[in-house]
Amino acid sequence: MNTLRVALDGPAGAGKSTVAKRVAAALGVAYVDTGAMYRAITWKALQKGIELHDEVALTELADSIHIDFKPRSVGQAVFVDGEEVTDAIRSFDVTNNVSAVSAVSGVRVAMVKLQQDIAARTGVLMDGRDIGTVVLPNADVKIWLTASVEARAQRRYQELLGKGIACDFEQIKEDIQRRDDYDASREHSPMVKADDAVVVDTTGMSIDEVIAQIETICHSAQAQKS
Ligand code: CDP
Ligand code: CDP
Repeated sequence: MNTLRVALDGPAGAGKSTVAKRVAAALGVAYVDTGAMYRAITWKALQKGIELHDEVALTELADSIHIDFKPRSVGQAVFVDGEEVTDAIRSFDVTNNVSAVSAVSGVRVAMVKLQQDIAARTGVLMDGRDIGTVVLPNADVKIWLTASVEARAQRRYQELLGKGIACDFEQIKEDIQRRDDYDASREHSPMVKADDAVVVDTTGMSIDEVIAQIETICHSAQAQKS
């Protein structure tokens, strides 16, 4: 088993999960989608009618929730307390509330512990916002994946249209910008580039080009490690 530990951070729509799945498979390490974990808690909190400013209730939820990932032929399925939520955690409702839930300190402490426990057992490629700074500060590779807000909004817009979901480009751009601002300005583990992360700006790059660049970075880190 490859023991490489890769931290992939960056703003919404930069291409993290698309790239992470394929690079993790090519490297032979586990892929951990940490955004899906924060989305899972948000989904459960909305289901239970928990007030999203109730930090005590959200922390209790984060301490008791069971989140499982199961590999699928394409990507992975997500389960919360035994119930499949793969599609449900991508809803507008969850997307528009996840930043508030993930800003709660107790929620972050619980999730970071789960993430570090996984990385202690196996090589990983983890994507998120605080992987290189908080979760895996000693990762073998740290990448900050980004793109202009225009390009990121355009990708999301195309993605939704492809699924037959009607949407407004300006609204998507505004939502992405608002979520980035919220994630970057929260008190606990804000979204920020680690000082030692390599910046990959994917504006105008195809998915295959991004994957090739990241694989090159990872292979050279692997060669240095062994
Ligand atoms: O895929 P997308 O970029 O839309 O978001 P995501 O990676 O699924 O993350 C959803 C939200 O979870 C982010 O906007 C952050 O508020 C939060 N998150 C976080 O706080 N820390 C992480 N390591 C990952 C996600
Ligand atoms: O995980 P994150 O929010 O960073 O982004 P994503 O969900 O992986 O990518 C958002 C959308 O952009 C997906 O539909 C990707 O197929 C697309 N994408 C792209 O068109 N070109 C890239 N270089 C990267 C992603």
